[in-house]
Amino acid sequence: MNDAIDFDRYDRIRPIRWTGQALELLDQRKLPFAVEYVSCADSDAVAAAIHALTVRGAPAIGIAAAWGAVLAARAVEAADGAQALAAIEPALQRLNAARPTAVNLAWALARMRRTLAGAGADWREALEREAQAIAEQDLAANRRMGALGAALIEPGRGVLTHCNTGSLATAGFGTALGVIRAGVAQGRIERVFAGETRPWLQGARLTVWELEQDGIAPTLIADSAAAHLMKSGQVGWVIVGADRICANGDTANKIGTYQLAIAARHHGVKFMVVAPSSTVDMDTASGDLIEIEERDPGELFAVGGARTAAERVGAWNPVFDVTPHELIDAIVTERGVIERPDAAAMREAFSAG
Ligand code: MRU
Repeated sequence: MNDAIDFDRYDRIRPIRWTGQALELLDQRKLPFAVEYVSCADSDAVAAAIHALTVRGAPAIGIAAAWGAVLAARAVEAADGAQALAAIEPALQRLNAARPTAVNLAWALARMRRTLAGAGADWREALEREAQAIAEQDLAANRRMGALGAALIEPGRGVLTHCNTGSLATAGFGTALGVIRAGVAQGRIERVFAGETRPWLQGARLTVWELEQDGIAPTLIADSAAAHLMKSGQVGWVIVGADRICANGDTANKIGTYQLAIAARHHGVKFMVVAPSSTVDMDTASGDLIEIEERDPGELFAVGGARTAAERVGAWNPVFDVTPHELIDAIVTERGVIERPDAAAMREAFSAG
């Protein structure tokens, strides 16, 4: 088996482009039928795009928010970074409020605040350099996690993934999808199953399209087919991303992840969470304390604009759930692999910051 990964062959999509004047976002509401970029000229346009899921995925919304801070600074005249920070703080708060569950958003904005607080007269350049660094570090982390996660996979079986955790959700290569890309490149993974991910269909619309760009032929399943798939013995691992990993290893991710973890444990299938350290939130002790985003129930009433439910029905639409750490076999970050995560293992890996 050749463990080298050709990063240029696997990974061609970039969802976030900085032009020097504006932020261009690949419109993920329109994929896979239209590949169009939306241009954001100010920070409120970026906040609106994050809220509307034009850009989505925890690392990608953090990166977009960092560029949003750069755009907010365009409207400001200030002698130093501290003055500029005071002026753009309301815009930073609007960016932060765009979505509640993924900690990468607050994490990226905190980095931008720290940069400004310590910057002198060249604060504008410092801010732009920091946004660029956040994006570059995310890509490097994903490549590292790809190698670390793939090494856990015994050759000869398939894997199942949920939502979209690929280049579309990050600066590139992806988290869980990065591990899958690496595992396919190394010949460890025989077949990639992708759950549809109702109601927004990140799996059906985004993951399947993204893998096809790489020449990887995924197999789409209905979310409700997952336990049956596991029982068939075709998958050895469920591999997912994360929106927030707590101090005890509990992990928030796209709705449906929790039931996959329960089904995996029942069937002896291993469960891997892949996320950069920017997704780790050591200030939140356990998953019960995470705010779970609830979106418009209208997302449940239609598919692709065609109504599927009767008029005047009620619906509940939480878009994330929490997988308790006891159901996770491995958390992979760019800092290494934590097997059977718990509070002690998380502290050892992350308490130094
Ligand atoms: O609502 P979304 O599409 O932003 O949710 C995305 C997920 O839940 C992903 O699994 C997570 O953000 C990790 S993306 C690398």
